[in-house]
Amino acid sequence: MPIEFNPETRQFHLYNDQISYLFDIMKNGQPEQLYFGRKLPKDADCLYLAERCRRDMQACPYPDDPQFSLEHIRQEYPGGGTGDMRVPAFVLERADGSRIVDFRYAGHRIYAGKKEILPLPSTYTEAPEEAQTLELTLADPQIGARLILYYTIFRGVPAVARHAEICCDGQEPLVLEAAMSLSLDLPDMDYDRIDLAGAWSRERHIRRRPLEYGIQSVYSLRGSCSSHQFNPFLALARKDAGEKSGEVIGLSLVYSGDFLAQAEVDNFHVTRLMIGIHPQEFRWPLRQGASFVTPEAVLVYSQEGLNGMSHAFHTLYRTRLASGVWRDRERPVLLNSWEATYMRFDEARILGIARKAAELGVELFVLDDGWFGHRDNTDSSLGDWRPDLRKLPGGICGLSAKLKAAGIGLGLWIEPEMISEDSDLYRAHPDWVLGDSRRTLCRVRGQYMLDFSRPEVVEAIFQQLQQVLTGSGVSYIKWDHNRSMTEVFSQGTPAAEQGCVRHRFILGLYTLYAKLRAAFPEILFESCASGGARFDPGMLYFAPQAWTSDDTDAVERIRIQYGSSLVYPLSSMGAHVSAVPNEQVHRCEPLRTRAAVAYFGTFGYEMDLTKLNAQEQEEVRRQILFMKRYRRLIQQGDFYRLRDPFAGDGNTAAWMVVSPDRAQALVAYYRILQRPEAGYERLPLMGLDPERRYRALEVKGCTEPDPDGPSACRYGAEFCQIGLILSDESSGCRNAAPEVQGDYLARMFLLCAENA
Ligand code: DGJ
Repeated sequence: MPIEFNPETRQFHLYNDQISYLFDIMKNGQPEQLYFGRKLPKDADCLYLAERCRRDMQACPYPDDPQFSLEHIRQEYPGGGTGDMRVPAFVLERADGSRIVDFRYAGHRIYAGKKEILPLPSTYTEAPEEAQTLELTLADPQIGARLILYYTIFRGVPAVARHAEICCDGQEPLVLEAAMSLSLDLPDMDYDRIDLAGAWSRERHIRRRPLEYGIQSVYSLRGSCSSHQFNPFLALARKDAGEKSGEVIGLSLVYSGDFLAQAEVDNFHVTRLMIGIHPQEFRWPLRQGASFVTPEAVLVYSQEGLNGMSHAFHTLYRTRLASGVWRDRERPVLLNSWEATYMRFDEARILGIARKAAELGVELFVLDDGWFGHRDNTDSSLGDWRPDLRKLPGGICGLSAKLKAAGIGLGLWIEPEMISEDSDLYRAHPDWVLGDSRRTLCRVRGQYMLDFSRPEVVEAIFQQLQQVLTGSGVSYIKWDHNRSMTEVFSQGTPAAEQGCVRHRFILGLYTLYAKLRAAFPEILFESCASGGARFDPGMLYFAPQAWTSDDTDAVERIRIQYGSSLVYPLSSMGAHVSAVPNEQVHRCEPLRTRAAVAYFGTFGYEMDLTKLNAQEQEEVRRQILFMKRYRRLIQQGDFYRLRDPFAGDGNTAAWMVVSPDRAQALVAYYRILQRPEAGYERLPLMGLDPERRYRALEVKGCTEPDPDGPSACRYGAEFCQIGLILSDESSGCRNAAPEVQGDYLARMFLLCAENA
């Protein structure tokens, strides 16, 4: 996947076997976007794409060239104040208030591999031949500043990673007021825009609408999280693009705080895409020798529809963003105590639940909120990371020893960025609270936020957690975050740097993650933020799995997991079976349907298994056996969305995973409500080898592929082009098989290639 530079035309061509990304350096020294899409011949001269047009009243820097106007030229990283009237990718202010900047080409470097941008998370390579990187340097000598644009193209993945760095080399102090990670000008607006939107308990629902003139964006201004409301992701899909085919461009930001993902369409049909830190609350002073590095953005091109886009994100994010020893390991089947006990527990209760869980095959018991300080409700103890000896007389070590004897591991919940007013930490350091002490501070869930923009605060929390975890036997951490920033003011920070506080907070968060990971490399981290408010690529770097949503209802989860899968791999999606009636929506789905949805993620239970009757416990035992047998396929296979629960009446949904060697596949089909006299039904599959024959077995009770049941043996081509036959007699026929009757139906099929 070389990156080539033609010194005569000053044209850069980044390409791999799937995509091409081309830009040139214009006569004013700025980079001009030429092409991003399906691969072009490597010597394609695309300068003809540098369209110039003499338009009325356009701003022209060259008196003798009335066609040259930045107002209409498609650019790579546009600034303001030089003729472009659209939203700029960066704003840099000089000491005297001038914001006119003129960055011009000053050189470039091309090298194999990719550099890290720590403490920021980013995609990485494990061998230099996996990617090539271009560093394009632009300089404005008048203000003594440099802009470096980084581009990495990966082998075998239709993706380009980008970020920018702004350096202050001169004596004049500068202030950076906006710095997007990526900007891309596209030549037309013939797209639908797709984003992921929602709220607590219904995160990442897919929204698709036509792209319009003007600005359309999604964002977070919550400071410390990417939010339940929107995700740092935006896609443009051609009108005819669907799950299986068509052109799609996807943008994603490796960041967990304030973000802006925006499409701006001008009146000449040019679409400017941007993603980066939201400029609204951002202000970063730069003194001589300092630089600012933006988070990384990942740009994907697919000509195989939305599934193609998702495969690119999944491949990159599962194997070259997620990091640490757990990246490629099968994830433990866990039981989380939250919905089982909330904060009302003692050691005997915990051991009772955990022992039953172990007996049924659960590998890890996760003790959620309520184990520390004197936390009996949400009003106390955040910041005091010491076990509550009233509840756990032997502390964490004592509990973990007993669990170990029962054959189950221990995981622990923490919420390190928070502080309760009723805590020793608050009494000792009231100024560590993020906020202006002259004002009333909003409480959210009874708590405040610690000022993680201050390194000493991060270090103090690290020390406490290190003490709890050292020698504790804890093998998993659920890292929660249950409020957004409100009164953002750092009591230890000078006035001129208050605009840095939000980003510094995120850097503090990443630093704490990095320190804990370094100190406890074997611990599996799961991120969480009141469910899925931090389900973003930034978190994925440190925590290879995330709690997808507090909504554990199977019907709701079908949509949430389907939407999340646009960007995020199944190995990142925490998915648990919970009790019925469901705590969030009071629905009652069969146990097997709840499992059939939760299998497609990192599986577990969110309930007290001792409360199930013997038959249900036996079903749970079989579910766990099933998951253990197929989790590698599920968590590391290629995932395909087959039927969209956001389309039509949303009554059915389906998805499947295929093993990398295409020898095995698992299909799940969900039907919310049973309809009378349903029609014939086929489900075309994806990802199978068209030439190989597969035997499809129904997974009986969603736990046991049934070798004696009716099975179909067909070519992959038949399953993909014609489909799996799903017609049944579920209505209007009193003798229909019970497993296809009723609401909230899940059916699963295992496909095995012959002679595999
Ligand atoms: C919110 C999380 O999403 C829940 O799973 C649980 O951990 C609670 N916080 C605990 O306070």
